[in-house]
Amino acid sequence: MRIPVFAANWKMHKSGLEAMAWVREFALLTRELSADAAEVVIAPPFTAIAVAAEAVRGSHLTVAGQNLYFEREGAFTGEVSAGMLKAAGALSVIIGHSERRRLFGDTDESVRRKVAAAHGAGLTPIVCVGETLDERERGDTLAVLDAQVRAGLDGCSGDQIGALILAYEPVWAIGTGRNATAVEAGDAHAHIRRRLREWFGGAYAEHTRILYGGSVKPENIRELIGLADVDGALVGGASLDAASFASIVKKATS
Ligand code: 13P
Repeated sequence: MRIPVFAANWKMHKSGLEAMAWVREFALLTRELSADAAEVVIAPPFTAIAVAAEAVRGSHLTVAGQNLYFEREGAFTGEVSAGMLKAAGALSVIIGHSERRRLFGDTDESVRRKVAAAHGAGLTPIVCVGETLDERERGDTLAVLDAQVRAGLDGCSGDQIGALILAYEPVWAIGTGRNATAVEAGDAHAHIRRRLREWFGGAYAEHTRILYGGSVKPENIRELIGLADVDGALVGGASLDAASFASIVKKATS
């Protein structure tokens, strides 16, 4: 049984104080949620990670970074390493988000190195993959997913595959209000799991959580979470408000 994961990607939003207020409100709203019904992760900006980690202590929430740099330390102005995230209190880290790929030069190769760095520091990678609208319209969706999954996870052991988290985020669904339909998401997730089985073995692939991301809201979570290979959600806009994210988690688990 895969425990679903609901991850809030705050992107470039929220100070430490705002993160604390969010955690307080979310905890109140999800008092009834049993700890084994779902894992809930918040990914604040780097500057709020330590404060958020302190705020979630003793709750069922954990904290993730939104990115990392794969070197351990050195002259890399503006970058943050996996070990630094861990020391600040993060347990996981988002890697290869399409905004990082599109705006900040992340490639399948840098994703692979970041995944290895996360593993090296004991962080759970949350690896994002997904096609652009152009790629979907050209009929290249599955080939793009194959390339991103294969290259990004190259070198991982079976155990690491089982423990990491993938997020299928079609680029055209991010921040657009247009989520993938159940058929589109279901096909992509089933395809990714099939490939994980082929490449890494069924025993491991059954454990990998594959999240859906892209315009997830309280109104569409039930349909998405009902799909066999959708094991949770990576939520942007609708996670900024604690009440709407709490509603997503509650609807998905009730
Ligand atoms: P939205 O939920 O705002 O579409 O963003 C999705 C996303 O990019 C999560 O990582």
